[in-house]
Amino acid sequence: VLSGVVVVGSINADQVTTVMRHPLPGETLIGSSIAILPGGKGANQAVAAAQLGARVSMVGAIGQDAYAQSATAILETAHVDLSAVRAVDGPTGLAVITVAADGENTIIVIPGANAAVDAEAVGRSADLIAGAAVVVLQGEIPAAASAAAARLASGRVVLNLAPVIDFDPATIAAADPLIVNEHEAALLLAQLTPGSPSPASDADAVARLREWGVTSVVLTRGALGAIIADAEGTAAVASPVVTAVDSSGAGDAFVGALSARLAAGDGLRKAVELAVRVGAFAVQSRGTQPSYPHEGDALPEIGTIPVPEKN
Ligand code: RIB
Ligand code: NA
Repeated sequence: VLSGVVVVGSINADQVTTVMRHPLPGETLIGSSIAILPGGKGANQAVAAAQLGARVSMVGAIGQDAYAQSATAILETAHVDLSAVRAVDGPTGLAVITVAADGENTIIVIPGANAAVDAEAVGRSADLIAGAAVVVLQGEIPAAASAAAARLASGRVVLNLAPVIDFDPATIAAADPLIVNEHEAALLLAQLTPGSPSPASDADAVARLREWGVTSVVLTRGALGAIIADAEGTAAVASPVVTAVDSSGAGDAFVGALSARLAAGDGLRKAVELAVRVGAFAVQSRGTQPSYPHEGDALPEIGTIPVPEKN
């Protein structure tokens, strides 16, 4: 029997600075705070899933530097199994994040140890991956590692194409669901169908990804919620209305929550309805993992359901 969630992905330390507005190229601004917090899309997703009650293992790598401990602190308190996380030579992955007063962020990621999570490293965790109900992948480790994990998976593959890297089409085809935002969907369509016009709308992007052959697509739209498309059809899910303090990692909270619910046996629509609320919870406070809910926390409620836009 397949059970639990395995996240094959990145682990970073996030250096989070806050500033009134983002600097222009060549400009210097005085910021107001700095914190070193645990992050990395893979680790964020693992923490979000574990804090909602899923049994989660992580396949990844950290460096042997002072940042390694900061990077894994919340993975540990969330009881994520780290037996398949290796300590390798060189620096831990580092993300330099700037959060402006309006909650928008910019992120520069230095992969460091995450670059060592290759197909061979994934192969060492073959049994773990093959036994998972849900295998979660993103774009912050080498694409060959994600391809290897997708081949080893016998459960559901959740692929969050963030950031967009050159994935093997077989990995995209294995995704159920593929989770992308508007920007990522457009970049992926340009890769999969070169020369095609850019999508006219979010609904158009989703329809074209399905036409290409993606089993199921979840397009995340920030405050507007998400569009889901699979063999059952297309549906829009609204997001709760909240005040954004820091949107960094909200997408990862969404992916982790969705994965936890799929592993618990929910269908995709029900899982997305919980995931938008978890994402909305996370934007309400600073940081990525420190802003994620625990099982039993009151989540913001979804408002009215918008009608998906016409093509
Ligand atoms: O999605 C947010 C994450 O992206 C941050 O935690 C940072 O580490 C980068 O990987
Ligand atoms: Na947050």
